[in-house]
Amino acid sequence: MSDSKGVLARVLTLEIVRVTEQAAIAAAKWRGKGDEKPADQAAVDAMRRQLNTLDIAGRVVIGEGERDEAPMLFIGEEVGTGNGPPVDIAVDPLEGTTICAKALPNSLAVLAMAEGGSLLHSPDIYMNKIAVGPGYSEGIVDLDASPAENLSAVAKEKGCKVSDLTACILDRSRHAEMIQAVREAGAAVRLIGDGDIAAVIDTVNPNESGVDIYMGIGGAPEGVLAAAALRCIGGQIQTRLHPMKDEDAKRVAAIGIDDINKKYSMNDLAKGDVIFSATGVTDGSMLTGVKFGNTIKTQTVVMRSATKTVRWITTEHQVPGA
Ligand code: FBP
Repeated sequence: MSDSKGVLARVLTLEIVRVTEQAAIAAAKWRGKGDEKPADQAAVDAMRRQLNTLDIAGRVVIGEGERDEAPMLFIGEEVGTGNGPPVDIAVDPLEGTTICAKALPNSLAVLAMAEGGSLLHSPDIYMNKIAVGPGYSEGIVDLDASPAENLSAVAKEKGCKVSDLTACILDRSRHAEMIQAVREAGAAVRLIGDGDIAAVIDTVNPNESGVDIYMGIGGAPEGVLAAAALRCIGGQIQTRLHPMKDEDAKRVAAIGIDDINKKYSMNDLAKGDVIFSATGVTDGSMLTGVKFGNTIKTQTVVMRSATKTVRWITTEHQVPGA
């Protein structure tokens, strides 16, 4: 599993780039049009088409929702030709649908793949998350500690003051207390409108991103995908499912999770050999968005946990029919 001949053969690392590239190009045609749904649908269709060309026996474990609510890339859907290794697939064909509709930064097409049984099977509900980049001792941050305690632990190990730290948090009313607590502890808060996969990944490179810690409640699918990325590039994330509605608890039970209060470490969310690919839809902190011209240019980051290789791939695609 961990060598190049493992279940996730090296060639798949490049194959998944094509998948996120095609999803990003399809979504980018809808940038700034003010309509989330067609942008998302275009990304889903393109991603599914491309996934079905791969020689894998893939199963979507993180997808667009449960079968009855998502016509495509639903949780449990089988993808690929079937002539290949059994793999778990986590997809977010368009992460940041609103961002894309408003042509704001950091909308991505994202996919992670791992050996069958390696990614957390989770319904699309909320998840509480806390994440930091590499270089800190294991378990330095904890969902059950206060923001002040987590910030002080990070500052101590980083060798700086709490006031030198920046926490990235989704700008939502549910985070009002957390935002106040971070500011009272002396740290800065970077509020983002959407897109917490990129925000978690930003913690890996605080010197460039200016983000030391990510905290708050976002989507569970995005939590699993962010964990898959951190498995490849380092860092830590801890999460806990956060049901908001009565039916959420039922959906969690239906998927086979019996302890709703369980805290998930990075390895609980994504273990074994994981590959992760993200292509920019709009320009962002990590990736350039799709550029349309005589050719179509995309930028993708693809990474593999077994080798820790991180590839930045700029591709020029011919314009169909040109
Ligand atoms: P979508 O692409 O599904 O719109 O998700 C964007 C996002 O901001 C995620 O990055 C985040 O995890 C989640 O939404 C937060 O959910 P909500 O917008 O309901 O607070």
